[in-house]
Amino acid sequence: MAKHLELTPRLGLLASWVRPGAKLADVGTDHAYLPVWLMLHGGVSSAIASDLRPGPLHRARENAEAWGVTKRLDLRLCDGLSGVGPEECDTVVIAGMGGENIAAILAAAPWTADGRHTLLLQPQSRAESLRQFLSDHGYQIVREELVLDRGTLYPAMEVTAGCQTLTVGQLWGGACLTRDPLGDRYLIEKILRLQGAVAGLAHSSRPEDREKADGLRDVLTALLFMREEWRHANGTGN
Ligand SMILES: C[S@@+](CC[C@H](N)C(=O)[O-])C[C@H]1O[C@@H](n2cnc3c(N)ncnc32)[C@H](O)[C@@H]1O
Repeated sequence: MAKHLELTPRLGLLASWVRPGAKLADVGTDHAYLPVWLMLHGGVSSAIASDLRPGPLHRARENAEAWGVTKRLDLRLCDGLSGVGPEECDTVVIAGMGGENIAAILAAAPWTADGRHTLLLQPQSRAESLRQFLSDHGYQIVREELVLDRGTLYPAMEVTAGCQTLTVGQLWGGACLTRDPLGDRYLIEKILRLQGAVAGLAHSSRPEDREKADGLRDVLTALLFMREEWRHANGTGN
């Protein structure tokens, strides 16, 4: 066991967003690095670490023991927030899962949109589905940032209750990344991936695939425009 528990850049960014004294619930905690680190650094007043599966929760318990925080870390085996009460936390972290899974966890716990909870969300994939869910269900993204971790870019969001309508570009390319230094790379990666998907669909003879390709072309147009905006805002455009 190393002397210092070091967080990866992705978890480090989320940890830096947790307000001092927060009552934390880390959903899908796996190894529990984030709550353990926050407890070691005095960042939280209480912490619940939950996971759907016994294996990850076992890893969480082992880490809590190794770092001497077993008595303070409340470990729970449950699906999403089903085993966590609204009054038990003011900050919910859901990180390292697909955007659709994060959206399903929030949908099953409508109290997360009561305005008394800060949500720190970090989708590994399908971020656009999560942003769409948030804007349709009474949440707003108050901050979004990209983090580069072992060669991969991840979006991270601070979310609270509110009203927000996002454009197609914002749904796919980020709610507020115009000034993010990694924004251009994020957009380029999205554009290339979508161009590949459109090219694949273009070979299909199925009408639904062609319809899907048309939808993705609209997204591509929005992302190309967003990239121009990013370049303009960051002084790299013409
Ligand atoms: C890749 S790990 C992420 C661990 C950590 N949150 C991080 O960001 O590094 C995803 C974890 O989420 C858990 N998980 C997936 N769906 C879940 C759900 N509906 N409720 C609770 N945990 C879930 C998995 O069991 C797994 O341990």
